[in-house]
This record gives sequence, structure tokens and C-alpha cells, in this order.
Amino acid sequence: MSSNDLTSRWSISANNPIPELMMQQISRAAASLRSGGVVAFPTETVYGLGADISHNQAIQKIFEIKGRPSDHPLIVHFADIAELGYWTEKIPAAAWLLARHFWPGPLTLILPKSKHIPLSVTGGQDMVGLRIPCHPVALTLLRQLGSRRALAAPSANRFGRISPTSAAHVRNEFGHEINMILEGGPCEVGLESTIVSCVDETVTILRPGGIPVTAIENLLQQVVSIKSHHSSIRTPGSLASHYAPATPLEVWPGGESFWSRFTVLQHQGICTAIVTRSLSDYSTRGIDENLHHILMPDDPVRYGKELYAMLRKLDEGKFDRILIEAPPDNPEWFAIADRLQRASLYFPEKPTT
Ligand code: TXA
Ligand code: MG
Repeated sequence: MSSNDLTSRWSISANNPIPELMMQQISRAAASLRSGGVVAFPTETVYGLGADISHNQAIQKIFEIKGRPSDHPLIVHFADIAELGYWTEKIPAAAWLLARHFWPGPLTLILPKSKHIPLSVTGGQDMVGLRIPCHPVALTLLRQLGSRRALAAPSANRFGRISPTSAAHVRNEFGHEINMILEGGPCEVGLESTIVSCVDETVTILRPGGIPVTAIENLLQQVVSIKSHHSSIRTPGSLASHYAPATPLEVWPGGESFWSRFTVLQHQGICTAIVTRSLSDYSTRGIDENLHHILMPDDPVRYGKELYAMLRKLDEGKFDRILIEAPPDNPEWFAIADRLQRASLYFPEKPTT
């Protein structure tokens, strides 16, 4: 996905102005943030829980209401690429290339922080995560905040749980605990940003996400390494268990082993919802047609967009187990495989091809 595709899908243009009522909401949100409020806002990836980085109390409140340890850094969101040099001490050539190509968009760059970024935002580290989101509401909000202002914003969910991809998800999770929730429709990407660390010229992917690894490699003309979650860098989204529903989740290869596992769960009387990418022949297997089956798209972009809403729905309490067909073992599915792996009790050694 190139930044042009992203921009044409979400940018504010004369043909696609933000409705007046929405503009009023955004102005109210900007005023609240300026006076130290905490506001949830839409981005193209997931909804974020935002605070102006210059308001220490608001930053503390984010950690508090998320239940997030204070040494886990927050991503800093801003609007204007010309201000990148204000927020970071150093911009390696690879970082410039990535920023110019993929911003606004689902890319977070980890760079040395400038003195304008408080240590409370980076969890005490001297590196900062920076991102220009590609959503008209987020960009308008950031522009209204003014130049050299930025929002620290983690995903708007409790620590370790599923990220929200609609305003309703945020409302269900935080209700009146925050000052305001800006509505911006369902998130286009549905998975968090790809996090890329650029220390000097060494480029490492810390979290696969909305920008495919292959798009980054193609742009940089080099193979980039993907750091496992055993990293020493503190990246909570890379903890082994994260993005998880409360209902135990298992991921099994498609075909025979998937159906055998389902049969075992059924015999144990475990009420199981199944999620596959292809319609399967369960009628010929003597499996009850009334079983709860969700058919997901066999396309990583559409699958990613629907994944979290689907998990939230299945997590509403009806099921004892969620059984998901493993994603294909191919780079376009990396981000989805990563999230499913962290959310699950069981994940196959080698996903299906
Ligand atoms: O798409 C996204 O990235 C969303 C939207 C709201 O922008 N934000 C998001 O934030 O997913 P959060 O806090 O839920 O996850 C951010 C990840 C965390 O794993 C955090 O540790 C990592 O980014 N991160 C932030 N700053 C970092 C830093 N300085 N070094 C290493 N990792 C960092
Ligand atoms: Mg998160």
C-alpha cells in the first residue's frame, strides 16, 4: 500500500469536506485537549486515547485509565511532516524516505527524541515513536491544536485487550471516564500501525501492522529484520500476550486438524465459535449446521479491517472458546498472524500456506 493510496482514501479534500457539525465537535475536542483533557479520536488504524504531550496530568491519566505500566512508551501523533525535525534529534536517511512515502499513514517511526518530548511520554527512554495518522478527523484535530503541538495516544483500550475500531468500542470500554469521544466511523485499516525503529541506518520492524513489511522492503530496497517479542526494547504491543479477548482463543491449521480439534471441543461440551476463511464442508462431516461460524474474507486487507470487531463480538459472553483457522504463512498476513498469536492460547508452529 503506498501513501498515495492511503491519502486518496482518507485525505480531506474539497470534494470530501468534514460536515459542519463534526467540525464543531473537533473544535470542542481541541479545546478540551488544550486544557488538559483526555479525548478518544479515530485514526485509520484504531481509535486512540489522546492527551496533549505538554499536559503531564493528562498523560498520567492515560496510563491510569488504561491500566498501563508507566514505563511503556506512548506514540506521539502530529500533523505536519515539516515539523518532524522539531520532535526528533536526528532523522536518518531511511527514516526520511519512509516518512515521506508513508505519512500520513499507518507507520510509526522510532527515532531519538528531541527535548520537546517529555520523558513521561517515552516511559523514560530517549527514543520516541512518531506518527502522522491518515484520518481526516485526526488530522483536523491535530491541525486545530496548532503548530508544535502533538498528541500522545495509545490505542483506546485497557492494557492487553483488543484495540477499538469504532467509537462504540471506546464508549463500551471507557464510557464517561474520558472527556470526549470523537466519532469517525469504522477504522479503514483496523490493525495498529507498523512500528519501524530507525537507529542510524539500521531499520528494524518492532511491530508488523498496517503497512506491509514488503512495502517497506521495496521502498528501502533492502531486507529488514523483524524483531521477536523477546526484545529488550519495551514495546508492550509486542508482549507475548496482548490484543486478547477474555474468551480463550485457539488458532489451528485449516483442513483436517481444524475439524478434529473442533470435534474434540464439541465432545467435551465446550461451546465453541469457529472462524474460517473458506466455506467448509461441515455438512458432510456430520457437524451441526447451526454451529456458530464466522466466515472471514480470504484477503489480508479486508480480514485486518474486520478482525478486532469480530473478536469483540465473539467475546460478548456466549462462547467458552473461539477456534480460528490459521492465516496463510505469507508476508501479507504477518500483522494478522502476529495479533492472533498474541491473542491465543494455542498457535500452530507453522501456519497454513
Ligand atoms: O496504530 C497505532 O499505532 C495506534 C494509533 C492510535 O495510532 N496506537 C497504538 O498505540 O497502537 P499503543 O500504545 O497501543 O501501541 C504503541 C506501541 C507500543 O507497543 C509501544 O511500546 C510502542 O508502540 N512504542 C511507542 N514508543 C516507543 C519507543 N520509544 N520505543 C519502542 N516502542 C515504542
Ligand atoms: Mg495498544
